[in-house]
Amino acid sequence: MDIVGLHLSPRKKGNSALMLDEFLRGAREAGASAASYSAADLNIEPCRGCGACEKTGECVIKDDDMGQLYEPLATAPMIVVSTSLFFYDVPAKGKALIDRTQPLWSRRYPLGRTETLRPEGKGFLLALGATKGPDLFVPVALCTKYFFDSIGMPKTFDSLFFRQIEALGELARHPEHLKTIYEAGLAFGRQRPGMDTPR
Ligand SMILES: Cc1cc2nc3c(=O)[nH]c(=O)nc-3n(C[C@H](O)[C@H](O)[C@H](O)COP(=O)(O)O)c2cc1C
Repeated sequence: MDIVGLHLSPRKKGNSALMLDEFLRGAREAGASAASYSAADLNIEPCRGCGACEKTGECVIKDDDMGQLYEPLATAPMIVVSTSLFFYDVPAKGKALIDRTQPLWSRRYPLGRTETLRPEGKGFLLALGATKGPDLFVPVALCTKYFFDSIGMPKTFDSLFFRQIEALGELARHPEHLKTIYEAGLAFGRQRPGMDTPR
């Protein structure tokens, strides 16, 4: 799998879901393979902060859907996050997903393991919100930076942000945004591993 897409907002057919679909449509058009996961479809308990993963690299919570995400998040060469903003940051279900990657952070830092490190990995952040302040995307960009770092991806990544997108279906009424997102996905797909190998 070239790309893992993460949709972090609770509205299943909302603006950020369409944003991810459109981005991955472009990436697949470029020949990349992609799998996507939506926090809205998953049962993910919040991190308990118990600290057990700092000793074992594993989460003690075994009976929810997070188990299916560790392997793709620890190995995918490319990861795209798509989210709306709730109080300037990732909505709670999506944030629970990010918090539950703490076992991958534990493997990297307290345990000093290197198997998740992907220095050539590529991340991308897609985010949108209803308002338009200059600092609107600062918190979500920081959260994503340290999420990527903790799972072994580079801390730098490309991003697209859209302001003043609020109602259900609103992004679909902006064909110029959809074109930008599709073209960013196309360019991302062209950066997949092996594409720059001289023939
Ligand atoms: C609880 C809640 C908090 C929100 N907080 C913000 C916010 O801090 N800044 C903002 O620009 N939009 C905020 N919004 C608006 C959403 O980001 C916006 O409606 C977005 O288009 C929803 O995307 P979705 O359809 O993918 O869920 C909030 C919406 C809700 C329901």
